[in-house]
Amino acid sequence: MAGNDRSPVTVIGPGLMGQALAAAFLRGGHPTTVWNRSPEKADDLVRQGAVLASTPAGAVTAGELVVVCLSTYDVMHEILDPLEGVLSGRVLANLTSGSSEQARETAAWASERGAEYLDGAIMAIPATIGAAESVLFHSGSRSAFDRHETTLRQLGGRTTHVGEDPGLAALYDVALLGVMGGHPEQLRPRCRAAQEREHRCQDLPAVGHRVGRRRQALRHRLRGPDRRRGRRVPGERRHVVDPLRLDRTPAPRE
Ligand SMILES: NC(=O)c1ccc[n+]([C@@H]2O[C@H](COP(=O)([O-])OP(=O)(O)OC[C@H]3O[C@@H](n4cnc5c(N)ncnc54)[C@H](OP(=O)(O)O)[C@@H]3O)[C@@H](O)[C@H]2O)c1
Repeated sequence: MAGNDRSPVTVIGPGLMGQALAAAFLRGGHPTTVWNRSPEKADDLVRQGAVLASTPAGAVTAGELVVVCLSTYDVMHEILDPLEGVLSGRVLANLTSGSSEQARETAAWASERGAEYLDGAIMAIPATIGAAESVLFHSGSRSAFDRHETTLRQLGGRTTHVGEDPGLAALYDVALLGVMGGHPEQLRPRCRAAQEREHRCQDLPAVGHRVGRRRQALRHRLRGPDRRRGRRVPGERRHVVDPLRLDRTPAPRE
């Protein structure tokens, strides 16, 4: 049932982002089941070929990979806590935004129910889901990621597993917010602050270094009157996101 070839996938929470996720899976040819509290939000997806489950349990049991994208972790628990039994043997890929602590707690919660857990951070907007340059971070079960990597990669060409610690994806999300928000200078202190909070994180210095090198190139590109006055120049956000070509830049020698 698992695999990297058109394996079935479930999306719980087709709001703005969840609809984009489910549409990307459909475009990739994956049989896609969706469930939402407000079922009418899945109408377009059903027209594109998705199956609308009438209950969360019906959605979860449609396949091994269950992608969750809800407003908060509390909402996720409201929906999934009552589903005794059905999570066992599934892979829960939770793309709901949250903290590292919530990710670790949810990984333990999923494990008690016999499910493998991946926590994810989406560094993209709905319109860019599925694009080759879109970045998504996953952390948690490496074997679950490996089994479903091709499916998960439908959501963004720069889908990356950043470590077995389920809290790492949320950590990367927080650390990179400065870049996505348009102030590259904020990244390194954010990385350091995040690192101080997360003693076990080994990967952030490398990310900071890689983004830092791109940032230097960005500075050259942006040098000019607009930048000196601190104004955002056209296209800056695109260039700022560009540094996230994590797999292309060699790791630094410390
Ligand atoms: N949108 C983005 O650009 C973006 C980017 C990165 C990450 N994210 C993350 O993706 C997640 C979803 O964001 P979104 O933009 O898709 O938000 P959204 O459009 O508001 O969708 C929220 C989803 O949560 C469901 N929900 C909320 N409260 C609920 C409740 N009490 N019971 C059952 N279902 C409930 C909604 O169901 P109903 O439709 O029934 O309300 C909907 O499916 C968030 O964690 C967000 O931080 C979003």
